Amino acid sequence: MALGARASSVEALERAYRSVVQNLNENDRVLIVAERAGEIVGMAQLARSSADNARHRAEVQRVAVAADVRGAGVGKLLMQAVEDQARGRGLTLLWLTTHAETDACAFYEAVGYTQLGVMPRYSTRPDGRLAPAAFYYRELA
Ligand SMILES: CC(C)(COP(=O)(O)OP(=O)(O)OC[C@H]1O[C@@H](n2cnc3c(N)ncnc32)[C@H](O)[C@@H]1OP(=O)(O)O)[C@@H](O)C(=O)NCCC(=O)NCCS
Repeated sequence: MALGARASSVEALERAYRSVVQNLNENDRVLIVAERAGEIVGMAQLARSSADNARHRAEVQRVAVAADVRGAGVGKLLMQAVEDQARGRGLTLLWLTTHAETDACAFYEAVGYTQLGVMPRYSTRPDGRLAPAAFYYRELA
């Protein structure tokens, strides 16, 4: 490898590293919590892409509502809050994954997400078995 090529590659790595460190700020990860009577009953996270050419995009992660309050609209409120936070940060594309063929798919479709497809053997279920994931996205106008 020519010295010049190696030097520029090291510089590129250093730039990428510095960008990761500098961009670790509150705009890159948002934690949203739903409370009822002082108790946490739901959570969701928004993780902005760190790619230079995809700062408009974020992944919605770890959406969960406490079992005893499901079906009462908390999940929908969480997803609205996710969207509000995303818009406030100039994000225009949200995406997420969830285990395929579960109730969560109907939930995400009910709150406006479009399924792209299913990837096999994506992640483990609580029993350790590898299971497929459904990929979803939503564009914010
Ligand atoms: C999926 C989950 C977040 C939904 O939260 P929730 O508070 O029960 O959802 P809501 O009551 O706000 O429902 C919102 C919409 O989704 C639909 N929906 C919710 N759960 C559903 C289910 N099990 N089956 C079909 N539709 C469902 C509702 O009918 C509603 O639609 P509508 O607005 O047209 O009436 C919750 O069930 C949960 O935490 N599940 C376990 C963890 C999980 O699966 N997380 C997501 C994958 S990572």
